[in-house]
Amino acid sequence: MPSVTRTTEGKIAVLTMNAPPVNALGTDLRAGIGEEFALALNDPEISAIVLTGSDRAFSAGADVREFGTDKAVAEPRLKTLESMIEGANKPVVAAISGVALGGGLELALSCHARVAAPTARLGLPEVNLGLLPGAGGTVRLPRLVGAIRAAEIIIAGKPLPAAAAHEAGIADEIAEDPVAAAVTLATELAIKGKPTPVIEREDKIADFDTDAFEAARPGLLKKSRGALAPARIADCVFAACTRPPQEALAFEEEAFKELVTGSQHRALKHVFFAERQARKVPGVPDPKEAAEIASVGIIGSGLMGGGIAMVFANAGIPVTIIDVAEDSLAKGRRMIETNYQRSVDRGSIPQEKMDRSLYLITGTTDYEGLGETDLVIEAVFENMELKQDIFGRLDQVTRPEAILASNTSSLDIDQIASATSRPEKVIGAHFFSPANVMKLLEVVKGTKTSPETIGAIFAIAQRIAKVPVLAGNCDGFIGNRMLQYYTAEAEYLLEEGATPEQVDRVAEGFGMAMGPLAMRDLSGMDTSIRIREIRRKTMPADERMAEVVERLVEAGRIGQKSGKGYYRYEGRKRIPDPETTRIIEELSASLGIERREIPDEEVRDRLFMPLVNEGAKELEEGIALRAGDIDTVWVNGYGFPAHRGGPMFWGQEVGLDRVAATAERLAEKNGQRWAPSQLMVRLATEGKSWDQA
Ligand code: CAA
Repeated sequence: MPSVTRTTEGKIAVLTMNAPPVNALGTDLRAGIGEEFALALNDPEISAIVLTGSDRAFSAGADVREFGTDKAVAEPRLKTLESMIEGANKPVVAAISGVALGGGLELALSCHARVAAPTARLGLPEVNLGLLPGAGGTVRLPRLVGAIRAAEIIIAGKPLPAAAAHEAGIADEIAEDPVAAAVTLATELAIKGKPTPVIEREDKIADFDTDAFEAARPGLLKKSRGALAPARIADCVFAACTRPPQEALAFEEEAFKELVTGSQHRALKHVFFAERQARKVPGVPDPKEAAEIASVGIIGSGLMGGGIAMVFANAGIPVTIIDVAEDSLAKGRRMIETNYQRSVDRGSIPQEKMDRSLYLITGTTDYEGLGETDLVIEAVFENMELKQDIFGRLDQVTRPEAILASNTSSLDIDQIASATSRPEKVIGAHFFSPANVMKLLEVVKGTKTSPETIGAIFAIAQRIAKVPVLAGNCDGFIGNRMLQYYTAEAEYLLEEGATPEQVDRVAEGFGMAMGPLAMRDLSGMDTSIRIREIRRKTMPADERMAEVVERLVEAGRIGQKSGKGYYRYEGRKRIPDPETTRIIEELSASLGIERREIPDEEVRDRLFMPLVNEGAKELEEGIALRAGDIDTVWVNGYGFPAHRGGPMFWGQEVGLDRVAATAERLAEKNGQRWAPSQLMVRLATEGKSWDQA
C-alpha cells in the first residue's frame, strides 16, 4: 500500500496518509505526501485538497527513530512540505482524527484550515523528548493563540483535547466526520479564496509585549527541573513575535539542531522507547488477547485503596470497595469525593466526569459483594498475617477465574499466594501514591503467577493509563529495593558532615522532584520507625543503620505534620533549622565521626550511584528484565529526572567504571551489601552497555 492514497470527491482531492501505526513522518511518508501534493496541485480537475490520516492518528509527528540519521534530513523535509502547502495555489484543509502531534500538528498548521474529530488530540509534545517543535511550530502557534499561551502549550507538552484546541483557535471546526466536513470547507474555500496562511497572520502577535513575556518567563519555566528545552522554546516563541517569520524559522531550526544533538534528547528518547518496551514481556500473551477485566474489587478504603478506586472508575470500570466498618467506608468515600471536587474546581475534569466516576464506586463491608468481580486488589497496611487472611477469604468468595492482586510495596507475593488455592492467579499490583496521579504500576510476578495473569494486568494497565513494568518477587521489588540505598546514604552523609539543605539541594539540582530528606519529612518519620526497628534486626552483621531519624523523632520532629522534621515548616515552606544541625552534630560526635565539608559532586555520586549498582544486581538476578525497565520505574514512580534517562542510563553516561569504584568505597564504609555488582564490573571492563549484557 502506498504511503499516501488519493481519492476524489467532486473537485476535491482527499490525500490519506497511511504509515501505520501512527503516521510518523518518516522519509517514505514525506516522499508520498510530496508526490501526491505535486500531482493534485498540477491537476486542473482539482480545486482544493484535504489531507487526512487514520482514525488513530492524523500523524504522531517526525519519526523519532530517524533522528540522528541522514533520513531525518532527507528531502522532502517537513519544512519543504509545509512551504509547498502554505504557498499552494489551491486551499488545503487538514482533517484530523486521533492524534496530531509534533511535526504532525506542524504540518496541519501549514494547511489553510483544520477540522478535528471531537475525540482528536492536538499538541506539540517535543519537549518530552528534550526537543522543541522544529518545523515551524514555535513560529506558527503564537500566530493562532498568542505568545504566552503558545509558550505554555509547547512547554507543557500536553496535547489538547479537540474542544480545547478549537477554543484556543488551533482547530477551526469540530466535526464527527472530519473528512466530510473538511471536503465541504475545502469546496467553500475553493470558491471564496484561501484564508491568509498562518505564518502571515499578525493579529495575535501584533501587540506582543516584551516586558509581559519576560515577566511570564519564570512561571513558564517553573517546572523545568534542569531540562534545557523549555527555555529554548521560550526563546523561539520570543523570536517568533519579534522577528520576520523566515528569520524566526531559521532561529527555531538552529535551536532544534542544538537540542537534537544534546544528551538530554538522547536520555528522553531512551525513556520514550524504554516505556514502550517495558510493555512487552516475552512469553506473555498480547494485551489484545488477555481476559477482559470488567469489574474490580478493592480491599481497604484508605489513601491507597481510594486512589486506586478512582483510577478504575476514571476508566469507566465499576469498583466495589470493601472495608471492615461502615464509618471507614464513609471516610474513604468522603476522601474520594474531595479529591474529585478539587479536580473539578481546578477545571481539570468536568462535573459530569466526577458524577459518572462516583456513580461507579460502591462500598460494602460484605466480602460476598465481590462474587462477580474479575480482579480484586488488596490495599491494606503491610502485615503478612492480615494479607494472608484476606487472600484466604477472597479465594472463597470470588469466582475461580478472578485475579487476586496485592498492592504491597515489599512483601513476599509467594507467601501471600500460599493462602489461596490459585497461586497462578495471584500477582502484585504495586501502585504508587497518590495512585490517581502517579503513572507507574509495578507488576510483581510470584513463582507460580501465570503468563495469562500477567497479560491481563498489563492489558488493564493500558486501559487505566498506567505504565506497567514487570518485577520479580524480592524485598522491595525493583524500585523500593533500590530506594533503600539512596535514603540510607542520605543519612550517612548527614552523619559525616553534610546538612539536610545540602543533600536536598544536590538531589533537586540533579533534577529529583524532591530531595530525599524533604521527602521523608513529607511522608512522616513516625511510621517508618517501626519498619526500621524490624529492618535493624534482619540487617547483615557488617552493617549499621544510621540513627538520624530516631534522634529527630525523639526530639518530636516527625516531619511536616508536626511542623518540624529535618526542617522547620511554615505551612509547606521548609526552613533550615539549627536544632536539626545540633542533633546531627551530637550524633556524629557520639559515633566518633569527625565531620567534614563534603563536596557536592561527592554527595551526588553517593546518592545516585548506589541506585545504579543495585539496579545492576536486579538485572543479574532477573528481578528486572531490562535496564530500561528500571529506568521506567524510576522516572514514573520516584520523580527521577526524565532528562537524565533514569538511573541506569545515567550510570552508563557517567561511566560504569566510576559507579563501580564508588560502590567499592561505599562497601568498605557501609558493608558488603553495597559492593559492586559483578555484571556491572564486567560490562565496565569490557566497555559494554546494559543492552550488551
Ligand atoms: N516516531 C516513531 N515511532 C513512533 C512515534 C514517532 N513519533 N510515535 C509512536 N511511535 C511508535 C511507538 O514507538 C510504538 O512502536 P512499537 O509498537 O514498535 O512499540 C508505536 O508507534 C505505537 O505507539 P504507542 O505504543 O505509544 O501507542 P499509543 O497509542 O499508546 O500512543 C502516541 C500513540 C500518542 C502517538 C504516542 O506514541 C506518542 O506520544 N508518540 C510520540 C509523539 C511525539 O513525541 N511526537 C513528536 C515527535 S518529534 C517531532 O515531531 C519533531 C519536529 O518538530 C519535527
